[in-house]
Amino acid sequence: MTGSLNVVVGITGGIAAYKAVGVIRSFVLAGHHVQVVATAGALRFVGRPTLEAISRNPVHTELYEGVAEVRHVAIGQAADLIVIAPATANTIARLATGLADDLLGNTVLASTAPVVIAPAMHTEMWQNPATQANVATLRSRGVTVVGPASGQLTGADSGPGRMEEPETIVQAALALMDGNQEPGDLAGTRIVVTAGGTREPLDPVRFLGNRSSGKQGVALASAAVRRGATVTLIASHLDVPPPDGVTLVHAPSAAELQQAVTDAAGSADIVIMAAAVSDYRPAERQDAKITKQDHGAELTLRLVQNPDILASLAASARPGQVIVGFAAETTPGHDELLRVGRAKLARKGCDYLVVNRVGWNEGFALDTNSIVVLARGGDVAVEASGSKLDVADHILDAVTGRASVPAR
Ligand code: CTP
Repeated sequence: MTGSLNVVVGITGGIAAYKAVGVIRSFVLAGHHVQVVATAGALRFVGRPTLEAISRNPVHTELYEGVAEVRHVAIGQAADLIVIAPATANTIARLATGLADDLLGNTVLASTAPVVIAPAMHTEMWQNPATQANVATLRSRGVTVVGPASGQLTGADSGPGRMEEPETIVQAALALMDGNQEPGDLAGTRIVVTAGGTREPLDPVRFLGNRSSGKQGVALASAAVRRGATVTLIASHLDVPPPDGVTLVHAPSAAELQQAVTDAAGSADIVIMAAAVSDYRPAERQDAKITKQDHGAELTLRLVQNPDILASLAASARPGQVIVGFAAETTPGHDELLRVGRAKLARKGCDYLVVNRVGWNEGFALDTNSIVVLARGGDVAVEASGSKLDVADHILDAVTGRASVPAR
C-alpha cells in the first residue's frame, strides 16, 4: 500500500473520550489523514478545538450540516478505516441495530472500510447480556473489537470496561490494515535510514547541536516500513517519535552514528543519510561542567572536524548498494541550489543527493518539504513537494529506480 490512509475516528460520549485525543495524534504522527466524527455526547467530554488542533481537520458532528456535499455518506465513502474510540454501550447497540439518526451511524453504514471499536463502559454494562449480544453481532459482521482492558474505572470501581490504551488501539487497527494489503513493493529490501541532529558533547550537561527535527528521516523510515522494507532507523536527536516496525538504534553523536551506520550498512541494500551530522565536535570533552568562574568574560571552544560518514560509505559501498545523501542548503534560487547540490554530490561520491532549501523559516521542523533528488552525474531524478511523508515516497521511488524521470 502506498500513501497514507483516510482514517475516520468516531468518538462517542464517555469519559474515555479524552483518550481519543491520543488515538488521533498517533494516526496523524504516523502520517495518516484523520477525520473526526464526534457525537454530541463526546463533545461534552472533550473540546472541539482540541480535536481540530490534533486532527488538523474540522470536526464533524451534525447530520444536517454540509448537506449540499452529502456529508452524511461522503465521510464514510472516503474512509479507508473507521476507528470508534471510545465506543459506549449505547453506540455499540446502535451500530448493532444499524441506526442512522446521527452522523456517526450514517458514516458507518455508508462505508465499506474495516471498522474497529474500542469499548469503554462500566463492568456491569459491558457484561450485560444485551451488550454482549450486540458485540457478538458486530463481530459476526467483521467488526474488530479492541479491548476493553481491565482496570480502574471512573468511579471507585475497577474491572473490565476500561478503554484500551490509544497506542494499542492504533497498532491493532494498522495491523488489521496491513493484513488487508498486498505485500509492499519494497518487501525484501533492507534500508538503513539515519535521522535527526547529532549532539556533540561539550561537558556532562552541554552539547553542540543543530535544528534538525528528524521529521523527514522518520517519514522515510515510516514510508519504507509501510512499503514492506526491512528498516533500521539510526536516530540522533529526534523531535518526533520513531515509527513502529523499525529496528531502532540510538546514536546521539557523530561518532556513535558513524559506528552504528557502518555496522548496519554491511547488510543494507540502501543507506539514506538523512541525519544532520555535525561537521565539527569539541576537541575536548570535559568531565566536569564548564563554569564562568573558570573562564570569565570569554570562552573559546576549540573544535575538530568529524569524519565525513557519507563520503566514506560511498567510497566503501558494495556493488549494487545505493548510498543516498541529503543536502540542506541556504543558497537562494533554484538554479544555484542545483549547482551547489551537484557539486556536493560529486564531492561525496554518493548515488543520489536529496537537496532542499533551509533557512530561518524554511525546512526545519515543518511538516512539509520541497526537494530535488539528483542522481549520480547530476541529472534530476525527482522533484517533489508536499507532506514529508509524500516526499518520502517520492525519494524512495527515485532511489529504487521507480520514479519516472521528470522532463527537462
Ligand atoms: N554528512 C556525513 N558526515 C558528516 C557531515 C555530513 O555523513 N560529517 C552527511 C549528511 O548526513 C548528509 C550529507 O553528508 O547526508 C550532507 O551534509 P552537509 O552537512 O550538507 O555536508 P557537508 O559536507 O558538511 O557540506 P557543507 O560544507 O556544505 O556543510
